[in-house]
Amino acid sequence: MKRVAVLTSGGDCSGLNAAIRAVVKRCVHGYGAEVLGILDSTEGLLAEPPRTLPLSLDVFSGAMLRSGGTMLGTVNKGNPFSYPMPDGSTRDRSGEVVDTIRNLGIDGLIGIGGDGSMRILHALMEKAGVPFIGIPKTIDNDVPMTEFAIGFHTAVGVVTEALDRLQPTAASHHRVMILETMGRQAGHIALSAGIAGGADVILIPEIPYDLDVIAAKLRDIHEEEGRNHALIVCAEAARPQDGAAVFSEQSGSVVYGGIGERLGRDIHAATGADTRVTVLGHVQRGGTPSSFDRALASSFGVHAVDLLASGVRGRMVSWWDGGIRDVDLGEVVGREKPVNLTGARMQAARGLDICMGDKP
Ligand code: F6P
Repeated sequence: MKRVAVLTSGGDCSGLNAAIRAVVKRCVHGYGAEVLGILDSTEGLLAEPPRTLPLSLDVFSGAMLRSGGTMLGTVNKGNPFSYPMPDGSTRDRSGEVVDTIRNLGIDGLIGIGGDGSMRILHALMEKAGVPFIGIPKTIDNDVPMTEFAIGFHTAVGVVTEALDRLQPTAASHHRVMILETMGRQAGHIALSAGIAGGADVILIPEIPYDLDVIAAKLRDIHEEEGRNHALIVCAEAARPQDGAAVFSEQSGSVVYGGIGERLGRDIHAATGADTRVTVLGHVQRGGTPSSFDRALASSFGVHAVDLLASGVRGRMVSWWDGGIRDVDLGEVVGREKPVNLTGARMQAARGLDICMGDKP
């Protein structure tokens, strides 16, 4: 193995630079191989000339391990198999990417992305006949076949810290504070951070909520605990039993957001409680990666390089049962990883009497 390429694809998160660093260190120290960074994922491969950055050890003198974002840039649209053209049509530009990949003279590509990105990259690399290994990342933690994806742990920390800050002001003003998190169709961030941050109510897309149940919970808190403030965490795609998730469309993409405001209005109307809403948004994706994400990203990077060197292709590295393994990408793509409604986190939430918006 002489030359390996690495790129980041899809929404960014904390820990990507730690993974890139691990890929470079393992390639150089373990195999004497050089590493080529590809800038802005497939956009960099579609550019003429392709946008690349040779990655040597001196790039990683210390700061990169700790930094958020991705030094390689990323995109979360522009699938080369169905590339959006200015006139609104789409064009198959995969052939251009395949030619570029072949011309780069690489022995393999490591792609750090969500399951959607990995599906596209794997298909492109199969077409080019060059091995591909995927590293899962997303704050949403919804990549199947791995317990953790890079970025999730840091995002949960950000949301938990926000709850730590909201609790005293909720108590001081006797308010119901609603915190809207990211996560798309999965409630992993809201559930984990809600438990860690002492939420009274956690609303996730997997369990459509009943406003009457939430109102009853707030009354119980007041009557049984003598408390007239509360913390509610709602995932961005949470929805009422009799309604849909709140989203808008931008350039053909679904953008979630607004359920927190809606809940604030509805809870005030149903209970008279003073409600305030905080939407954390992209704050959850940025900033210094947690120690767990740095260690996870580093382990993933090393294992991905070892897989390429051993001659396998079409695999995704995975965290499972306290260790690293790898799985066939075919088992990952096209599947979902919603919150396990009978799993440990849900048991904890139910056991703590956290209202999940339903009648359990
Ligand atoms: O998938 C990660 C994520 O942060 C989601 O939680 C969120 O819905 C989405 O990306 C936001 O994407 P964008 O950066 O395009 O606004």
